[in-house]
Amino acid sequence: MQYNKLGRAGIRLSEISFGSWITFGKQIGLSEIKALMHAAFDHGVNFFDSAESYAHGEAETLMGKAIKDFRREDLVISTKIFWGGNGPNDTGLSRKHLIEGTKASLKRLRLDHVDLLYCHRPDPNTPIDETVLAMDYLVRAGLVFYWGTSEWSETQIEEAFQTAEKLNCIKPAMEQPKYNLFFRDHLEKDYLPLFSKYGIGTTTWSPLASGILSGKYNHGIPPETRLAKEAWLVPDNFMQLIEKTRELEKVANDLGCTLSQLSIAWCLKNPNVSSVITGATKMEQLMENLEAVDIKSQLTTDVMKKIEAITK
Ligand SMILES: NC(=O)c1ccc[n+]([C@@H]2O[C@H](COP(=O)([O-])OP(=O)(O)OC[C@H]3O[C@@H](n4cnc5c(N)ncnc54)[C@H](OP(=O)(O)O)[C@@H]3O)[C@@H](O)[C@H]2O)c1
Repeated sequence: MQYNKLGRAGIRLSEISFGSWITFGKQIGLSEIKALMHAAFDHGVNFFDSAESYAHGEAETLMGKAIKDFRREDLVISTKIFWGGNGPNDTGLSRKHLIEGTKASLKRLRLDHVDLLYCHRPDPNTPIDETVLAMDYLVRAGLVFYWGTSEWSETQIEEAFQTAEKLNCIKPAMEQPKYNLFFRDHLEKDYLPLFSKYGIGTTTWSPLASGILSGKYNHGIPPETRLAKEAWLVPDNFMQLIEKTRELEKVANDLGCTLSQLSIAWCLKNPNVSSVITGATKMEQLMENLEAVDIKSQLTTDVMKKIEAITK
């Protein structure tokens, strides 16, 4: 496993990381979570991702129970604030919710600090000055080491940098965008000026498009899978994606790897990706996905061209 710097920041993240969305507290319980996190760690994963909203806080609670066995310094733990509950001040990026939400997340995680804290979405109802100042406070208070954004536009991230500059505040270090073979523009086009200008890192999500890029939906939606349980995640262009997935599977077969490994390795190839956050409900999935680090070198220019022709 390779450890990448988070853009210009000094902290190092495993190139493959492990997240808890939909899985922790919904599909899997503490014993499975512990087994998966330990196995991931044993294979070099040091970065684990959560959010206050995942399973209404239960994902953080379970991750907190699982990580008490680890040495804190060996882990990079993140969470995200935006959707904390139903009360008028339980959502968004106000100073009140950012600070109260972070303290509540830390309690659930049983930690004194998180390494990375994300604004889970932009908040049009809060002035950017207020959000930047609250993040600056959280970092200076030692509750958070690095702050960043998730699914913000290039303009919104630029505004956060300008505001931090103006107010002499700590600047964002990272963005967490969706990035996979079917969803590429943010990372490959929109954010390009931000990489050269500010050196932000990225921790990307859904490398398998919720499992579609494993190939397991190529002949329908099997029961006990994410798309069977969370029908709202089935994209409108599902059948078009399946056609491409079938073609991509042939490329994976030629390389002697699985489509999941090819899809994750393809994300790892992008030099602007600091860490690819994967998800899994089963040990076999995790083990298969972690092997993607060995497939990266097989994605030669020719292979990348074949992939490009299928996905573009
Ligand atoms: N910032 C954000 O807004 C945001 C949004 C979403 C996610 N995230 C983060 O990114 C992480 C990863 O996202 P994701 O869970 O969507 O990743 P993903 O890799 O696209 O999907 C993971 C799911 O695909 C299935 N799967 C995984 N490996 C497989 C394999 N080898 N073969 C067959 N099926 C496999 C499993 O679902 P089943 O077994 O249930 O089918 C697994 O839970 C999340 O946990 C979260 O931490 C962040």
